[in-house]
Amino acid sequence: QSLVETETERMIDPAQLVGRDLWELKGNIGKLLGSGHPFLDTVAKHYFSGEGKYVRPLLVLLVAQATSIAPKQPEWVHSQDYQSIDTPISHNLENITSKDTFDRGIHYTPSMTNQGCSILPTQRRLAEISEMIHTASLLHDDVIDASETRRNLPSANASFGNKMAVLGGDFLLARASIALARLRNAECTELMATCIANLVEGEFMQLKNTQDGKTAGEKGKRNTFDYYMEKTYMKTGSLIAQSCKASAVLGGSTHEVSDIVYNFGRHLGLAFQLIDDMLDFTVSAADLGKPAGADLKLGLATAPVLFAWEEFPALEPLIKRKFSEEGDEEQARLYVYQSDGLKKTLGLAEKHCQLAIDSLNQLPPSDARSALIQLTQKLLTRRS
Ligand code: FPP
Ligand code: MG
Ligand code: MG
Repeated sequence: QSLVETETERMIDPAQLVGRDLWELKGNIGKLLGSGHPFLDTVAKHYFSGEGKYVRPLLVLLVAQATSIAPKQPEWVHSQDYQSIDTPISHNLENITSKDTFDRGIHYTPSMTNQGCSILPTQRRLAEISEMIHTASLLHDDVIDASETRRNLPSANASFGNKMAVLGGDFLLARASIALARLRNAECTELMATCIANLVEGEFMQLKNTQDGKTAGEKGKRNTFDYYMEKTYMKTGSLIAQSCKASAVLGGSTHEVSDIVYNFGRHLGLAFQLIDDMLDFTVSAADLGKPAGADLKLGLATAPVLFAWEEFPALEPLIKRKFSEEGDEEQARLYVYQSDGLKKTLGLAEKHCQLAIDSLNQLPPSDARSALIQLTQKLLTRRS
């Protein structure tokens, strides 16, 4: 099925399927974050008051529904006992009383939707954990990139300083880890811990960029592009792919089904970052809600520049010196606009979106599957 053909599919608004769950998500994350120190609470919650896209939770919830009617592991038993995930998290364990559990606990029940698709309480919690890990990485990323804005707000580092922003991110990760442990699923814990490691590895690959300039000519270009794609998987693909897989794992899916949604998430994640790298050249800061044109300023050669390099070999020295000399940034930008770099970046994103849809088509048809397909198609025309 091609991208065009699937467009004739019945239009499904994801909000109809998981709108309520998403609406509750912010409040639930708030409950997971309460800290003994009111200011730490403020820093950790900072980005949740902005205009987040909530892509990862949306995917986790829709994958939960789409896989709920797919084959299950024969030994999987649906547990009705969700007590461990409902226990409130306190900064001081001794302060928890049974009354607290009753009053402040997050009360979840499995929800049924149309077509017999359902979301388990553990999968809803996973959606929250995924968004918390993502937000933690943004708090750290804005420190590394010295970014002043995010989600149309002053960044956490701009508001509270670098030290507090880093600690706020650490705290989010720690609370996400507690919530993860309470899911009592070792495979899911391993998947989400792997993607935390991958986030750091991806960011490190970006900082070190060890492959660039090592090999000259065609081989050098190919190495650089492969390195860029591997980094892209690490910094964006992994969290999306593992979150989708973990959602299927929590629902007791077979390995075949969890691999299908992993592949879907991997291709979607790669396409998502390719579009992000394209928008950095084409969209204003006002539309993005964060600084535009940031990548060249940070010395980063992303897909549009790497494709432009194929047409303009003169870009090579600029890439190698990370656009550090006077006029480099403007010159590189001109090469990108004069080349097919942006078109080719979009083309590669389209290819990954198609592969993501091919994966989804291996799942049984459902409204949730249609919503995931439409979400993947919409990704290509997003402006922020
Ligand atoms: C945004 O990229 C950043 C990421 C996708 C990941 C950043 C990861 C780290 C900083 C490692 C630390 C991780 C954890 C879990 C604490 P970008 O800078 O290209 O995009 P932007 O334009 O949104 O800033
Ligand atoms: Mg950044
Ligand atoms: Mg960054």
